Amino acid sequence: MKTHDVYFDDSGKQPFVQFLGSSAISQSFVLCDEITKEYCLPILQELVDLGDFSIIEVPKGESNKTIETCNIVWRALTKVNADRKALLINLGGGVLTDLGGFAASCYKRGIHFINIPTTLLAMVDASTGGKTGVDFGSFKNQIGVFSAPVFTWVHSIFLKTLPAMQIRSGAAEMIKHGLIYDAQHFEDVIINFQNPAPFISDSVAIKQAVVTKDPTEKGLRKILNFGHTLGHAIESFFLNTSTPLLHGEAIALGMILETYLSHKHLNLSNKDLSKILESIQRFYSLPKIEPSAYQNIIDLTKQDKKNEHGSVRYVGLKSLGKAVYDLPLHSEDILDAFAFYQSL
Ligand SMILES: NC(=O)c1ccc[n+]([C@@H]2O[C@H](COP(=O)([O-])OP(=O)(O)OC[C@H]3O[C@@H](n4cnc5c(N)ncnc54)[C@H](O)[C@@H]3O)[C@@H](O)[C@H]2O)c1
Repeated sequence: MKTHDVYFDDSGKQPFVQFLGSSAISQSFVLCDEITKEYCLPILQELVDLGDFSIIEVPKGESNKTIETCNIVWRALTKVNADRKALLINLGGGVLTDLGGFAASCYKRGIHFINIPTTLLAMVDASTGGKTGVDFGSFKNQIGVFSAPVFTWVHSIFLKTLPAMQIRSGAAEMIKHGLIYDAQHFEDVIINFQNPAPFISDSVAIKQAVVTKDPTEKGLRKILNFGHTLGHAIESFFLNTSTPLLHGEAIALGMILETYLSHKHLNLSNKDLSKILESIQRFYSLPKIEPSAYQNIIDLTKQDKKNEHGSVRYVGLKSLGKAVYDLPLHSEDILDAFAFYQSL
């Protein structure tokens, strides 16, 4: 997979307009959900002239990150005879950029797509790096491909309408970037938690630095999954309840558990342990997990994409800013981490 450019704020206008008007493009489609159609499309139209385009609207939210929603996209493209030079502009959060990237990559074996993320989480994480896909049954991102957008255009103007809980959710991935790669970024994010926008480009730079070294996750890129082995399993578990978690909330919880395991197995210092736990607990009110859910969550980790030869793996921290990948995660460790979490 090739790596791709990311433009920030108004620096994206010119490349966007230029690509839209180029001979590489026959027709443009803006993919949005009901929210981004109402709030974000008018902003995008104020930023640039989109020329002739069609809207493809899909239902919002993680529960619609499915192959059935891809069918809506593929039907809409097929209905108007969209050809291989069609362009899909994914205007939305991580659900939409993941799903739109996947739908574009499969339609006629691949058409161009551009990501314009409109949530903090999609800006700092989901819209870059080329992972696309959908959930399958209870399993997160089970079906997907590595496929890069033409480029990603991150404009913080879209954050104006984003609810505070979604800002908190996105900030979890920024915290993760700091914890695995750059202690200063971690400090910046927690000190400026109420206004993370000035640190978006730093967060993206960390992700890009890791992805450039290992685009298809053979090794180093796995560190971006810190908090995700348990976080994804917990997110999947709660997806099937009446109180689903936001992605970032699940990852915040996963980071607590995997930080504890780092302390236990990698000698992460008491000082770092306390600092990380205190920061995450200050910003996130995390759910209680009933012991009756533990086995279910353990079973869900067995589908994690980092697993090899049946062994579940996680990412740990040696210290603030230094991560280690491919650590074995045994069921007893998960139970121990949950016991620790209950004691907090
Ligand atoms: N591909 C990757 O590398 C990667 C990385 C991290 C997360 N993800 C994925 O990202 C998804 C989560 O993304 P998310 O947190 O953005 O959730 P989301 O896409 O569901 O967006 C959250 C909600 O915010 C609304 N919204 C979007 N922009 C808005 C705006 N500007 N103003 C008001 N409302 C707005 C959306 O309509 C939606 O209802 C998960 O599926 C996760 O697996 C992917």
